Amino acid sequence: MSRPGQELYVKKIRNGTVIDHISAGHALDVLKILGINGHEGNIVSIALNVASKQQAKKDIVKVEGRELKQAEVDKIALIAPGATINIIREYEVTEKNRVKLPETIGGIVQCSNPSCISNAGEPVTPRFKVEKEDPLRLRCYYCARIMEKPDVLKQF
Ligand code: CTP
Ligand code: ZN
Repeated sequence: MSRPGQELYVKKIRNGTVIDHISAGHALDVLKILGINGHEGNIVSIALNVASKQQAKKDIVKVEGRELKQAEVDKIALIAPGATINIIREYEVTEKNRVKLPETIGGIVQCSNPSCISNAGEPVTPRFKVEKEDPLRLRCYYCARIMEKPDVLKQF
């Protein structure tokens, strides 16, 4: 029997991905950047502003029946630095990874400057230097445009 305060807000899942330790209030941004809109058919559970051992409050997203790919995990790092990706198989946590932003972001985000060479129809992959993780601040390698979290979220 669990003591008060020890119950899980969202029950354990059998197979899928648990994105844990999302900074409080950012779970919906995580869904947005993953392109999850509820029409995929998977069961998705979201807990907002729950108590955490390590943070004052956190959000959790549980996506059943789907293991996130590395490219998706990289996107989460932009929105929720410090989140933990847990892969669940038959109720067990089989992989646990803390998301981390690389020093350089390539190919995920487009530059918002229409005159940037990366938007000119040339074979130039958009690339940004990560100047700051939280709050997010990216600098375009080509035109030096600064991109912040709302600029990134707009693209997803
Ligand atoms: N989880 C789940 N379903 C499972 C197993 C785990 O939904 N079958 C969830 C847990 O509720 C938790 C996360 O996945 O939110 C990670 O599980 P676990 O590693 O067991 O928890 P902690 O040790 O508390 O994780 P951490 O050390 O990362 O805080
Ligand atoms: Zn640019």
